Amino acid sequence: MRILVTGGAGFIGTNFVYYLLRRHPEDQVAVLDALTYAGNLENLKVLEGHARFKFFKGDVNDRELVHGLVGQVDAVVHFAAESHVDRSIQNAADFVKTNVLGTQVLLDACRASGNVRFHHVSTDEVFGSLGAHGAFDENSPYDPRSPYSASKAGADHLVRAAWHTHGLPITISNCSNNYGPYQFPEKVLPLFITNLLENKKVPLYGDGLNVRDWLYVEDHCRGIDAVLREGIYGETYLFGGRCERTNLELTEIVLFEMGFGRDMIQPVMDRPGHDRRYAIDCTKTEQALGWHPETPLMEGLRKTIAWYKTNQEWWQRIKSGAYRDYYEKQYGGREIKSQ
Ligand code: NAD
Ligand code: TYD
Repeated sequence: MRILVTGGAGFIGTNFVYYLLRRHPEDQVAVLDALTYAGNLENLKVLEGHARFKFFKGDVNDRELVHGLVGQVDAVVHFAAESHVDRSIQNAADFVKTNVLGTQVLLDACRASGNVRFHHVSTDEVFGSLGAHGAFDENSPYDPRSPYSASKAGADHLVRAAWHTHGLPITISNCSNNYGPYQFPEKVLPLFITNLLENKKVPLYGDGLNVRDWLYVEDHCRGIDAVLREGIYGETYLFGGRCERTNLELTEIVLFEMGFGRDMIQPVMDRPGHDRRYAIDCTKTEQALGWHPETPLMEGLRKTIAWYKTNQEWWQRIKSGAYRDYYEKQYGGREIKSQ
């Protein structure tokens, strides 16, 4: 299969490109990525000159470029997005532009090229926030609450509309919080791991009791690959790790694994509109595709911590460069809660 991976220089996209090339020796993979602050060509450096890999720097909103690329492939797997909730709170414009408008440009190109297969990678955050009980499934109503999740929900609706209106062969997957190698150190796990490697405290939002479900990125990549090849057009698939933890529990595990105590927790003011809990019931996906999350949390965390330990240059360059300004803005002036 010839596959165009958008956002392939970001966290999950990079892992997916490596997964495809390893798992499917017959596949040809092209990446389209604008290399925003979150995209990093260094991630794909070892693929330079690879016979089955090509990289194109560009924006998913560049109609001409997108139409040209989509016309040469059998399938598009769409990761490209603005992906960080905190940034969407500061400025939502790029989220609408890339996540909503950019997705429509890709859908138009797929139609124009004779109904190219399209898989859309989305998030469980489109379903809103849960109370103490229950879990999201494929039939959960949409109730996005941050500009990020609202823009992803808008994209999901456009993708589904392309199926209902035009018969475009689409699938959608909504997944929980991923973690693993190559994740940009603004998301909670890489931020906390790299802070600790620098002997810095970790900023825990609010009471630390918000709950997330954790999915190791390789398990997610395996799932997307299964949907791409075996998914039924028009269907939605949910991916979760069956691994709920409060942020405080997760932080304590990381602290323990890295040899630190609770004194390294810096409580900070909560994120505005902070969703309380996400959880996923992925029974349908498990039955339909035979997919299961396979990596236990401790194994995934140990692999992730080891990756950040052995790839210090990768994240130090990010943290000391342009990202430093964002970090200062985000946490430098942030009100610190009294302990
Ligand atoms: P990321 O921020 O690490 O990577 C996003 C990539 O998209 C970057 O390489 C960036 O350069 C590229 N990009 C951004 N705007 C672009 C544009 N206009 N044109 C072309 N490329 C552009 O994100 P991620 O964590 O790898 O997430 C990938 C996808 O998975 C996103 O769609 C996200 O919504 C979804 N998702 C992520 C998670 C998670 O835990 N990381 C969970 C659920 C869903
Ligand atoms: P994040 O990694 O930003 O992912 P998302 O908001 O998409 O779930 O945050 C995960 C959880 O960690 C979320 O409940 C917010 C919390 N968090 C902190 O407590 N401190 C931080 O510095 C960050 C970035 C997140």
